[in-house]
Formats: sequence, structure tokens, C-alpha cells
Amino acid sequence: MIRTQSLSKTAVTPTHRVDILKGIDLHIPRGQFVAIMGPSGSGKSTLLGLLAGLDTPSSGQVILDGADITALAEDELALVRGRKIGFVFQAYQLIPTLTAEENVLLPYELAGGDNVEPSRARELLDLVGLADRRDHYPVQLSGGEQQRVALARAFMVRPPILMADEPTGNLDSVNGSHILDLLLTLNRREQTTLVLVTHDPQLAAHADRRITLRDGLIVEDVSK
Ligand SMILES: Nc1ncnc2c1ncn2[C@@H]1O[C@H](COP(=O)(O)OP(=O)(O)O)[C@@H](O)[C@H]1O
Ligand SMILES: [Mg+2]
Repeated sequence: MIRTQSLSKTAVTPTHRVDILKGIDLHIPRGQFVAIMGPSGSGKSTLLGLLAGLDTPSSGQVILDGADITALAEDELALVRGRKIGFVFQAYQLIPTLTAEENVLLPYELAGGDNVEPSRARELLDLVGLADRRDHYPVQLSGGEQQRVALARAFMVRPPILMADEPTGNLDSVNGSHILDLLLTLNRREQTTLVLVTHDPQLAAHADRRITLRDGLIVEDVSK
């Protein structure tokens, strides 16, 4: 499903060169729940951004369902991203001028969806416990509620892969557990491949596999 070959990323600034990722070889089969861990600055967000096609590597490949996405033009890549990958960020990143329901509908409107009806937005908001908040704007929602909207949005077009970068990082433990339960429910219900960057041991304990990065390299890869 997802495969990388010698994936590397070097950032060049006017004063120095930073090797952020130094050759990552990875295979993530369909339906697996992978937690990516490691200290701050080890390259976790960079790796996730490359796997999602949000960023381009300095060398190496990301192969998604047999196709090398690093070889795609930006418009083709946007299409693949829109159809195949849901993304949840630590800071929610909802569109402030859209209501909860409009935010959840957005991926459907951008990517279309052969296997999705717009009514799914309401079903997902029900599932995340926000049926009565669908006409609220992000500023009218708490952090935990905003992240539940972000989760519903990420699942809107039934992406085969969901990626999340510290999705519970800004939440207290009660809201964090709620997000974790929803992720697991949606992962099981829709057989989504889940790739999560997390510091949260409670979240990582539920993963099928834990990959630890240090200084841009995989130093541990443990499956249950
Ligand atoms: N665009 C960039 N330019 C320079 N350095 C960067 C850039 N992006 C990330 N870095 C550096 O690369 C390292 C890894 O970053 P990141 O992937 O965000 O780590 P993590 O998510 O594990 O905390 C950090 O030292 C960070 O400062
Ligand atoms: Mg990070």
C-alpha cells in the first residue's frame, strides 16, 4: 500500500544544510495502524508530509498503491491526495469561515467521491457526537470539538489512508481519549490504514506497529 525507498530530505538554508531524513525504507500494508514516535526534531512530521505527498523528497521514492507519487506533477498529486489520503493536524486547521458541516463537506467538494454522498457529512458529525453543532463555526467550538470536526472531515471521502500529526497533542486527556476512540472506531469500520505521529503512549499502545525515528533514521520498528 505505502512503500518508501531510500527516502531522504535535506533542508538548505542560507547558513547551513540539515539532513532531516537520511534514507527511510518502509513498507506499510493496507489496514495497518502505525504509530511513528521519536524525540522532537527527529523528522516525524517531515516523514508524514512526504508520505502524504504534501512535501517532496530530496531523493528517494514514495510509492502509493504501486505508483511513485514523487514523479507526479502537482495537479496529479493533488488528485491522489484528495482521493486517497485524509490528514489530521495537531492544530485542527479548520476553515474559520465555514461551519462544522461545511468543513466536513469540503474534501467531497474538492475531490468528488464516487462512493460518497454529501449526506455522509451529517452521519460523520453524528458519529463524532456533534450532531447539534453542525451549524457552528470553528471559533464557537472547543479544541476537542474542533479536532472531532477535523477527524470527520478527514474521513469524508472514505480515504484508504488516514495520516495524523500529533492529533491529541493539543488536547487534555479526556478529549485525547475521545479522539483515540473515534480513530479506532473509524479505522475498524472503514478499514483505513492509519499512520499517526504521536508522543502519547496511550495512543501508541493501540497501534499494530511502532516505528521510532531518531536523527532522521528508523532506529526501532516493532510489530505486535
Ligand atoms: N524547512 C526546513 N528548513 C530547515 N530545517 C527544517 C525544516 N523543516 C524541518 N527542519 C528541521 O528538521 C528537523 C526535523 O523536523 P520535524 O520533521 O518537524 O521533526 P519532528 O516532527 O520529529 O519534531 C528539525 O530539526 C527541524 O528543525
Ligand atoms: Mg512534528
